[in-house]
Amino acid sequence: MRSLAEKLAARIAQGGPITVADFMHEAVGQYYATRDPFGRQGDFTTAPEVSQMFGELIGLWCVMVWQMMGAPDKVVLAELGPGRGTLMNDLLRAAGVVPAFLKAADIRLVETSPRLTALQRQTLSGRDVQWCENVDQLPDGPLIVIANELFDALPIRQFVKHDGQWCERMVGLDGDGFCFVAGPAADPDLPAEVLATPDGAIVETCDGGRALAASLGKRLNRQPGFALIIDYGHGRSGTGDTLQAVRHHRFHPVLDQPGLADITAHVDFQALAGAAVPARAWGPVDQGGFLRALGIETRAHLLAQAGGDKVAADIMGQLRRLIDPGEMGTLFKALALASPHFPAPPGFVS
Ligand SMILES: C[S@@+](CC[C@H](N)C(=O)[O-])C[C@H]1O[C@@H](n2cnc3c(N)ncnc32)[C@H](O)[C@@H]1O
Repeated sequence: MRSLAEKLAARIAQGGPITVADFMHEAVGQYYATRDPFGRQGDFTTAPEVSQMFGELIGLWCVMVWQMMGAPDKVVLAELGPGRGTLMNDLLRAAGVVPAFLKAADIRLVETSPRLTALQRQTLSGRDVQWCENVDQLPDGPLIVIANELFDALPIRQFVKHDGQWCERMVGLDGDGFCFVAGPAADPDLPAEVLATPDGAIVETCDGGRALAASLGKRLNRQPGFALIIDYGHGRSGTGDTLQAVRHHRFHPVLDQPGLADITAHVDFQALAGAAVPARAWGPVDQGGFLRALGIETRAHLLAQAGGDKVAADIMGQLRRLIDPGEMGTLFKALALASPHFPAPPGFVS
């Protein structure tokens, strides 16, 4: 069977260079379809895989926003891009302190990878869960959405400025491998102050991320609810090439062996918030501050006290990893989208 690299090379040889978004779409699709990428044996570790505390606190956040919604009898509780199902599992265990919430929750996982769907089914066995492929398939009614490290996996377009003109950055062929080449003139949909940069600058847009935020925004304007988006990225739109690939916990050349490494890009939270109008956006706030506001330090000390020295050291290590500015505390951010009439959700200052 031909590898993805061979298929993409044949496509480019026949039809010419493809956009970075096309390349990323193919690479990310193949990547998640063929592996469990998480943890020490895999390529990277996400916050729910670092510590149970992450999902537990998000579980309490869900209970609190459900209460802000008037504790409806039914609420669609959806997670987008649920990985191994660890976050949802920890979330539901912690939310069990309010049985009425669990009774109300209609749990939906939005996942595109059959391989990871099977893993989620194992992790969440015994829970009543349903799967769908996109947010438009979610049932009507009050809604709570969680998405951790989904938006960074959605394909981005890149643009380079040459002689005062923006051109799409494309992927072409260079001998046996791939290389970046300049494509047709383009007009990136970004604020004028971001585009007023010197020649050589690179900017990025994520059409899929904006479309998803727009879809959530429309829904939250029609029906009550909240969405919590956590990812790594920047609070204001800016310039710079943030495309990266990671394999076995190390950076990997972005265009090498597509489908074998995890390709991501920084999330532009300003663009997501803008796309979600008329829903109201809160934040983004740093992940460290968000988790501290939800009580992660207290939770860590309780867990540490309940175990021996080794457990306590592990828990304190996990805490540092999640909240320290030099680890995930600042680079990762939380953005909440909400129906316009609600006040600030927990963790977001009004
Ligand atoms: C980096 S993993 C994050 C997993 C999990 N949220 C966590 O924090 O451990 C990205 C997840 O998004 C899924 N995914 C990628 N593209 C998707 C898409 N367009 N729609 C839904 N899920 C997608 C992947 O299969 C995977 O489950």
